[in-house]
Amino acid sequence: MIAIIGGSGVYDPHMLQNVRDISVDTEFGTIALKSGNHQGKSVYFLARHGSTHSVPPHLVNYRGNIRALQQLKVERIISTSAVGSLRKEMNPGDLVLLDQFIDFTKNRHYTFFDDKVVHTDVTNPYCSQLRAIICQAAKDIDIPLHPGGTYICTEGPRFETPAEINMFSLMGGHVVGMTNVPEVVLARETKICYASIAAVTNYAAGISPTRITHQEVIDIMDKNSEMIKKLIAKIIEMIPQTKTCECGD
Ligand code: HPA
Repeated sequence: MIAIIGGSGVYDPHMLQNVRDISVDTEFGTIALKSGNHQGKSVYFLARHGSTHSVPPHLVNYRGNIRALQQLKVERIISTSAVGSLRKEMNPGDLVLLDQFIDFTKNRHYTFFDDKVVHTDVTNPYCSQLRAIICQAAKDIDIPLHPGGTYICTEGPRFETPAEINMFSLMGGHVVGMTNVPEVVLARETKICYASIAAVTNYAAGISPTRITHQEVIDIMDKNSEMIKKLIAKIIEMIPQTKTCECGD
């Protein structure tokens, strides 16, 4: 079972057939998502910000979303998100396959384990098997993809100051966004394989010659969403039954 978590600009699962609306009750609330299939595989689609982009990044029900996917017996998650670039070589329109994150969020629910002490290993936060498949899928259909990148997660919903971006860049960050933490961590806590394709929509504050607007993020994502959906369709086709990663260990 595979799930797609669609971020800004990826609100509907055009790559799926037989799409139906479903809802799942969890202890964190009722989660609305879609079910469908592609090439004989069952796939769920969850719009992270809601189908009309009404939920801001700091208020996304991250635990509810991941718990719903766990209850649906999802074993692999491919997520997408919009990001700002900290690097001149990562340009608006580029795709970056994340391999590390640095957490600058402040006020979220980070764990399913509030009733016992669990320290989850995130040495490799993103599934190595899914990452290899995504790189191969992008090659096969000629979609350029940066094979690695460190994601800085900020609390938002404001954009960053140039001083913050300068610090993030000195720390080794490649892209900045507001949603990957705690999503990636909660997936690991549930032992669901998780990979994330970040779509660069703008140069981050201070790198960009102009002020950043949410509209600019949406415009680039609208342009890119067909390419992302094509890539996701190919990834779904290529995911094998057998796992070779360590996400469930
Ligand atoms: N900063 C944070 N989140 C973002 C950005 C950004 O510049 N662009 C898209 N999401």
